[in-house]
Amino acid sequence: MKNKKFKVGLIGFGTVGSGVAKILLEDKDILKAKTGIDFELAKIVDLDTTTDRGVKVPDGVLTDDINAILKDESIDVAIELVGGTTIAKTFTENMLKAGKHVVTANKALLAKHGIELYKLAKDNDKAIAFEASCAGGIPVVLALRSGLVANNIQRIYGILNGTCNYILTSMSSKNEDFPVALKKAQELGYAEADPTLDINGGDSAHKLAVLASYAFGYEIEFDDVWVDGIEKVSIEDINWGKKMGYTIKLLGIAEKDNDEMISLRVVPAFVANDEIISQVSGPFNAVSIFGSNVGETMYYGRGAGMLPTASAVVSDIVELALGNSKNTFDALEFKPKEEAQKHLLKIDSLKSRFYIRLQAADKAGVFSKIGDILAKHNISISGVLQQEGNSPENTVPVIITTHLTKQIDVAAAIKALGELDIVSSEPTCIEIVDIPNDEV
Ligand code: HSE
Repeated sequence: MKNKKFKVGLIGFGTVGSGVAKILLEDKDILKAKTGIDFELAKIVDLDTTTDRGVKVPDGVLTDDINAILKDESIDVAIELVGGTTIAKTFTENMLKAGKHVVTANKALLAKHGIELYKLAKDNDKAIAFEASCAGGIPVVLALRSGLVANNIQRIYGILNGTCNYILTSMSSKNEDFPVALKKAQELGYAEADPTLDINGGDSAHKLAVLASYAFGYEIEFDDVWVDGIEKVSIEDINWGKKMGYTIKLLGIAEKDNDEMISLRVVPAFVANDEIISQVSGPFNAVSIFGSNVGETMYYGRGAGMLPTASAVVSDIVELALGNSKNTFDALEFKPKEEAQKHLLKIDSLKSRFYIRLQAADKAGVFSKIGDILAKHNISISGVLQQEGNSPENTVPVIITTHLTKQIDVAAAIKALGELDIVSSEPTCIEIVDIPNDEV
């Protein structure tokens, strides 16, 4: 690979784009020493050509004209860091048609239009590389593509959003309210400019859709993922969970059973404190992948931020230059959407354990009423906690954990419990995820 040159066009000079430019310019020698390839940052396109990003870009490289990349036949790869699903899609399509590989960190784009774009790439004999789209700097796509290639992938559990993990960790360890913890996450630069997609679980669901599609080989999209965010998680529930030995995490979970039935969900969940994933705190991400031959594997690191995400983008550039990505991309096949739909389990039929908290009247007969409703909905109680109290309203918190139960039954029971005259506020419910044992 001596003396090979690989020319890069960067679209989007924001946080991650600045990190990519920094690595390509400042670590050029390291990349050359490791690969023998001379990586040249040929053009950067951004509407803002004046703001100082703290990276010294050679004269003539930064421009606001997309044609500087599109029309330059010598540029091998276009890096799409624009974000969103509209203009980013157009840029990606045009770059592929112009004969360039595309590297993207855009999980929303891939979760919505990935399959269509992968097809366009193949039609143009090019590849799309997307390591940075899932779990930032953690090489989880590479693990699926390469290190775990000898496995039928059966499960993925992940903390896929650093902002949510930072918020939940702060709420839990510092007893901070949700808005305080969110503000700090934004100040530290973990959250997106608009944090809605972080906290409502959408960002994690985009990443889960991309990973599940790749790992299971089906056309899976964002809409196929059941999503719940962390906005409604309260300190009270976190503290009750702690008393019972649980840590709260926003988990993305993709599972495939022996009949190839697939379930996909992003949910705030209680996980036993002694699980490794419970120890993942602050803005860090972790992804656990279970393969048929290897069993449980886990990948940990920074899922957001300028340089960690740029590290993944540059790894994609290198893999493309070496020809590795293209080979595996060419072999990539997905069972079509109609087939995927036959294999997707509805959330209603999903079985899990649940934590339920009620504020109930402190008088005779309350437990039998609660027990009746749970029994009527086929829910078996695993544990119960009631705190002695002397509130002026004469109510007490009652915490119930269930054995394995269908989601649909829990939802109906929660509604019925909320309607009882002895229950004074809307019950809260959080899934308890028991990580399965490693049985290969
Ligand atoms: N805002 C995301 C996070 C990073 O907090 O993990 C990019 O997806």
